[in-house]
Amino acid sequence: MSKIEWFQNARFGMFIHWGLYAVSARPGRGEWHASIDRVPPEAYQKYFDLFDPTDFDPVSWARDARQAGMKYAVLTAKHHEGFCLFDSAYTDYKSTNTHSGRDLVREYLDAFRAEGLRVGLYYSLVDWHHPDYPAYEDPFHPMRGSESRKNENCDFNRYLDYMHAQVRELCTNYGKLDLLWFDFSYEGHTGADWRSAGLVEMIRALQPDILLNSRLEASGGELGSLLTSKPTPWAGDFAAAEQIIPPAPLVMPDGRPVCWEACQTMNDSFGYVEGDHAWKGAAVHIQQLVDCVSKGGNYLLNVGPDAKGNFPPEARRTLREIGSWMRQNGGSIYGCGPGRKVDAFGCRTTAKGKKLFLHVMHLPVGPLPVAGIRPEEIQYARLLSTGAEAEVLTSGWAVQNYPGYTFLNLGQKAGEAQPADGTADLVVELTLR
Ligand code: GLC
Repeated sequence: MSKIEWFQNARFGMFIHWGLYAVSARPGRGEWHASIDRVPPEAYQKYFDLFDPTDFDPVSWARDARQAGMKYAVLTAKHHEGFCLFDSAYTDYKSTNTHSGRDLVREYLDAFRAEGLRVGLYYSLVDWHHPDYPAYEDPFHPMRGSESRKNENCDFNRYLDYMHAQVRELCTNYGKLDLLWFDFSYEGHTGADWRSAGLVEMIRALQPDILLNSRLEASGGELGSLLTSKPTPWAGDFAAAEQIIPPAPLVMPDGRPVCWEACQTMNDSFGYVEGDHAWKGAAVHIQQLVDCVSKGGNYLLNVGPDAKGNFPPEARRTLREIGSWMRQNGGSIYGCGPGRKVDAFGCRTTAKGKKLFLHVMHLPVGPLPVAGIRPEEIQYARLLSTGAEAEVLTSGWAVQNYPGYTFLNLGQKAGEAQPADGTADLVVELTLR
């Protein structure tokens, strides 16, 4: 089994953005509060002083993830603000020095592994706290353009030593990690600027099976050299798409598929935001997950726990609803990839071996017309949720009047099989001859 196989089979994971920004919780800001509002370090310090997640219970987080059907998780060990959720020997700016006194990364890893999930850590390359991370001319740093940092005497190499040492800690002190998720590169801070060759070599030596994302050289908006015929040594193992699901499978110039993952928020931000009620709902996430799998990608759905350590109730509800769909229809997700192109009201297809799954997101009036597959190619058709047959019609008005289409009788079963929450994805499993 190649080391990326588990990831391609898993298809669905949980992103967790958690840090001091769960305390600031600013609308329209989230984890970018310090940058967007140009908060100086002295003012940001209050969030460190206030950080006290008394309800933090990673066992319940892990259970929520597993019950939603997720197979892996990625927690922000350090986001751009620089605060570390782990007990690093190289900084005081860490969770063990807050009221909580806990190594949150370690507890998360223990709990998620115990629940049978693969574990990943997000690590921000960008650091708005470290004194050697350039501020004055940086486009994002909270102190950009500030007179007080004009003649800053920072030594980026010293920052890189720090960053490499922390990555070494994470890869050494926390057991087997399945994935490292770097974030992010931009002009002047990309690829070799991070001393990426040495970094990747060290990581692979310490954690031979670990998967890396593409952002040692890519921003959120780019996919990196994985899509070229000459990937760099730090191109990573999968491309991390942001705020978009690629319109088609990602491929190299010679047509070989590229592994990718799209991350998505449940409301409008990654970090917890008080009063952000723009919840998308389970149906939207299910359709997006299916869309990803139909193009050979993974879906990493984010939860932003609040300052006390709780998942927002709306997020938990969404996870439960996705979970009930996954229990019935997970067979069309796990281990599946793109299916052949057929058309039935713009449905998506996923496939595994001889099984072709039609994801019917708009229910028809009468039998479902499917273009692109002939009746004689289908050995058997059934609804994945209930197992009820979806008869392939061989006679009748529809068949006579509309040659070129295959008609599947979803009958009343369609309505019955719709989950109570109105999730609009009825999966028809076709066993092909
Ligand atoms: C962006 C943002 C960051 C978020 C990430 C998730 O790079 O800077 O806040 O963590 O995307 O993909």
